[in-house]
Amino acid sequence: MRPKISIIGAGNVGATTAHWIASKELGDVVLLDIVEGMPQGKALDLLEAAPVEEFDVDVKGTNNYEDTKNSDIVVITSGVPRKPGMSRDDLISINTKIVKEVTQNVVKHSPNSIIIVVTNPLDAMVFVASKVSKFPHHRILGMAGILDSTRFRTFIAKELDVSVEDVDAIVLGGHGDSMVPLPRYSTVNGIPITELMHHDRINALAERTRKGGEEIVNLLKTGSAFYAPGAAVAEMIEAILKDKKRILPCAAYCNSEYDVGGYFVGVPVKLGKKGVEKVIELKLNADEKEAFKKSVEHVKSLVAATEKYL
Ligand code: NAI
Ligand code: 2OP
Repeated sequence: MRPKISIIGAGNVGATTAHWIASKELGDVVLLDIVEGMPQGKALDLLEAAPVEEFDVDVKGTNNYEDTKNSDIVVITSGVPRKPGMSRDDLISINTKIVKEVTQNVVKHSPNSIIIVVTNPLDAMVFVASKVSKFPHHRILGMAGILDSTRFRTFIAKELDVSVEDVDAIVLGGHGDSMVPLPRYSTVNGIPITELMHHDRINALAERTRKGGEEIVNLLKTGSAFYAPGAAVAEMIEAILKDKKRILPCAAYCNSEYDVGGYFVGVPVKLGKKGVEKVIELKLNADEKEAFKKSVEHVKSLVAATEKYL
């Protein structure tokens, strides 16, 4: 039997995630949305690509949680995206209510699933889903770090005119303007980028990474990024379903780790069949520690802001 992956919210990120999942044959996909007909239409359209792309998975669209029953993984992309001039944090009131309601349905229909939250403001929405689901912390995580890191990797590869395949990078902290790109841990085939680029250029690329979501919002004008976010979610799903034990930056629960004190923030984790199997603690220098602490403080303020909508 193939794994079952449900995606709640069949908008841009949800549908694109379904596309990447199907093309990688990771499992059967259920796309659920509150809009009638839309998830069914997108699912059928994607399914009809199967003979051309040669993927043998089912894709079903629905408005009914019964169809998501006993999913192995549930991805929550339901919610409102940013428009120009809005920060991710402006979405808090409406998206807290949506994530709460969706999580209640996930718990009811797929009590043993692993939940991957995508809805913004990301770190606060994972907290909401965790609080509502009461799932063990290893079965709930958020996607952001892979997206932020892949943006940094893209900019580094372009700057140095090298293959993206050789570029690794890591971005820690909350998924917001205070995220912390780590040049010391970013490499081209093992060579730290600090050996390959002037620090002014590294700072410029790190700043472009912090503003990476906004750059796309300002270009699109009607919504936010979806190709790279969808690919990032699919990478997490593949790591979990194939028990790959990949080390990837994700929003994971940290208590004593990095002295976070009980919040979800972007950190490198080992991803395998249990979900988050380990949080990897990197040695940070004083500046990195300070930037990370500031980012965590911002996450805490966002979490506090969700409380009145729960
Ligand atoms: P979208 O507007 O294209 O899709 C959202 C979908 O959610 C819509 O189809 C809507 O009908 C649906 N929806 C709303 N309430 C629902 C409910 N109660 N139950 C089921 N479905 C519901 O938005 P898009 O671009 O797909 O973004 C989705 C969310 O993901 C936004 O909050 C966005 O900010 C966030 N995002 C987060 C990223 C990250 O790195 N964590 C990256 C990209 C987007
Ligand atoms: C992004 O970074 C909107 O959070 C989303 O593109």
